[in-house]
Amino acid sequence: MPDLSTMPKAELHLHLEGSFRWSTLQEAMLRHHGKGLPATPSWYHSGHRFHEFGEFLRLFQDYVDPWLSTPTGYREILRDVVEGLWLQNVRYAEINFSLGLVERIGHPLERVLEWLQSEAELAHQQGLEIRFFAGINRHRGSEQALKWTQQVCQASIVTGIDLHGNEVGWPASLFETAFQFAQEHGKRVKVHAGEMVGPQAIRDAVGLNITQIGHGTSASQDPELMERLRDRQVLLELCPTSNERLLNIPSYKAHPIFALDQAGIPVTLNSDDSAFFGINLTQEMHRLMAERQASISDLKRWTTHAFKKAAIDSATRQAFLLELEAWTPSDQQMIAAGPS
Ligand code: ADE
Ligand code: ZN
Repeated sequence: MPDLSTMPKAELHLHLEGSFRWSTLQEAMLRHHGKGLPATPSWYHSGHRFHEFGEFLRLFQDYVDPWLSTPTGYREILRDVVEGLWLQNVRYAEINFSLGLVERIGHPLERVLEWLQSEAELAHQQGLEIRFFAGINRHRGSEQALKWTQQVCQASIVTGIDLHGNEVGWPASLFETAFQFAQEHGKRVKVHAGEMVGPQAIRDAVGLNITQIGHGTSASQDPELMERLRDRQVLLELCPTSNERLLNIPSYKAHPIFALDQAGIPVTLNSDDSAFFGINLTQEMHRLMAERQASISDLKRWTTHAFKKAAIDSATRQAFLLELEAWTPSDQQMIAAGPS
């Protein structure tokens, strides 16, 4: 298996509060709360499945809230997520931070936005472009969504909003006013859709002029929708291991990434919540190579889609694309990894 750690990467779909490294949490829980955690949590086991979305969300309450609630916790998570990306040679990342969590913890939003700003500046100096998307929790309803959107639209550090949370019973159409407000104020809008429910959710989002969908996995059930996504070049942020662990697909082998790709839809590869699925973007790429026979050129094509959609200036985009095109795993890396 080639060493993919040096490949220039882009990640469009990760949640700040679910993307820290476990060892950093272990150290933080001990330092802040004197609490020891196992070296490897039980849900890192490859056979682990979350049978309900609520079971997965409880991990955030149990492990992230106590960390975020400390005076330095938010900045510690932020620093760790950015460092984890940098170590994988991710050159561009879109990070979703949950407004519901900011509120639950009680940090003033202005303070959080300042922390995001200073971390993004630091990352930029290291050659990593970070863009932040304010995560709107669906279950808080449309009025709250609009209030939050109005608040974050004033902040230049916020590139856009990203509707997330439980899809069941909360179609994107309920949030049209918030989306319009964001778009009128020059912000991007992304929607998690077709992750937990069927293709209608994706059709709804596309009908609202959304061109970047979180997951969109269930589009594969509807050939007509696939044509529409291809014609409009709607980008899908696919997260295969997340879908497997949350039981949104029958198995990893059944993930429709190749069908969607072959239909001409710009797909990208992402980790979603690596802290809870135990697999980062580089590892997800390895997994797709090992278990689905993805090639280096597949990985490069999917990364190219991400760089092309990225909220960056054209010179930076060109530089990232050229860097990616020029990259090949060296012979030494291939030998060091041994036969697959
Ligand atoms: N928030 C964090 N992870 C999520 C996921 N996989 N789907 C929807 N909302 C989320
Ligand atoms: Zn997500």
